[in-house]
Amino acid sequence: MSEPRIITGIDIGTANIRTLITEVSEDGRPTFLGYGTAPAAGLRRGVVINMEKTVQSISKSVEEAEIMASAHLDSTVAGIAGDHIRSINSHGVIAVSRSDNEIGERDVNKAIEAAGAIAIPADREIVHVLPQEYTIDEQSGIKNPIGMTGVRLEVEVHIVTAAITSAKNIYRSLERCEIGVEHLVLQSLAASYAAINDSEADMGVVLIDIGGDLTDVAVFYDGSIRHTGVVPLGGKNVTNDIAIGLRTSVDQAEHLKTGYGSALTSLVDADDMMEVPGMMGRKSRTLSRNVLASIIEPRMEEIISLAAREIKKANSPDTLAAGVILTGGGAMLPGTVELAEQILDMPVKLGVPAGIEDLPETMKRPDYATVLGLVNFGFKHGPGVEVKKGGLKGLFRKFEKWISNNF
Ligand SMILES: Nc1ncnc2c1ncn2[C@@H]1O[C@H](COP(=O)(O)OP(=O)(O)OP(=O)(O)O)[C@@H](O)[C@H]1O
Ligand SMILES: [Mg+2]
Repeated sequence: MSEPRIITGIDIGTANIRTLITEVSEDGRPTFLGYGTAPAAGLRRGVVINMEKTVQSISKSVEEAEIMASAHLDSTVAGIAGDHIRSINSHGVIAVSRSDNEIGERDVNKAIEAAGAIAIPADREIVHVLPQEYTIDEQSGIKNPIGMTGVRLEVEVHIVTAAITSAKNIYRSLERCEIGVEHLVLQSLAASYAAINDSEADMGVVLIDIGGDLTDVAVFYDGSIRHTGVVPLGGKNVTNDIAIGLRTSVDQAEHLKTGYGSALTSLVDADDMMEVPGMMGRKSRTLSRNVLASIIEPRMEEIISLAAREIKKANSPDTLAAGVILTGGGAMLPGTVELAEQILDMPVKLGVPAGIEDLPETMKRPDYATVLGLVNFGFKHGPGVEVKKGGLKGLFRKFEKWISNNF
């Protein structure tokens, strides 16, 4: 019997590094094997600023997942994010190659390649060239042109680029952990693979992922991704505002936010009280939760209003009828859905990630969407090309594992 296929994802977030290991079961679905997490250290806004600390965080998260899964991870689907990410839409045209004018996979790849051949600054690299729709001769709006006939094939694509140094440092950090990269995937695109279904993408939908340092926005309509953008603010800004506003430590502020916070002041009763621990020997105080919410609300309002600007940039021809899906830990703050509905004037719901079998109930949460989506991406697009291989030590680890499995 052949070895079961292992698919793994590592979400290198600005707050948490999450590792998910799955195995493709007999019925052909990725099935949960193990999960690990570690606080993200050495990264700022998705960019590696301290390689040593990043490597330690990744290793901790991976080891935890490997122990739970009793499986070794030597290559992965990794997420990339950061305010260095840029995206544009482009267009490619080719002449159909076969004499009988039937369009084959080669033509489609050539058209996508032509669309991706754009001038980009020397310090940037292309992460994705995502086809949106095809036109054969004059007929537009075609989703899959393979097998159709025509003379001229055109494709509209969404191109995502990243700063070369930022992408390289992610490869290098993973390489230092002896992990090869099969695909590097934009985090918001990954989250969409877990939290958005095909009919929502057809109707028009927005994904807003509120993470630690960043909020990612992705707009989909007519079944394809149309715009991606990054807001350089997230849940950590909310925590910092609380720490300053209530003169308490960042750790205490985080504790107050997750325990008593609300994104909407109007949802909190003014008589509802909480205890704020004092700093540096000062006494603790009792404060109204309403005060806490009044610190949180303006920052959440700012984040969502900046996300709204990104949605506008998509120039969607129709209303995005499937509304907004919120993912990321920052979206778990009570009142965020209601606040987003007020600001965006669209239906809003929390994204519950799906697609992995035997997933523990505790992982069906918006902040797991990206890592689950990375695995779903790997499942859909196959093992891919290893962008960077693990070092020689990786081979030793494999050999060790082979020995322990066989003797
Ligand atoms: N229950 C909760 N209520 C409010 N905020 C929460 C809750 N749980 C997590 N958060 C916040 O979510 C943020 C982290 O979210 P997440 O884990 O999605 O970030 P990340 O994926 O590491 O970051 P990014 O996506 O920006 O790279 C933190 O700021 C944290 O305070
Ligand atoms: Mg994230």
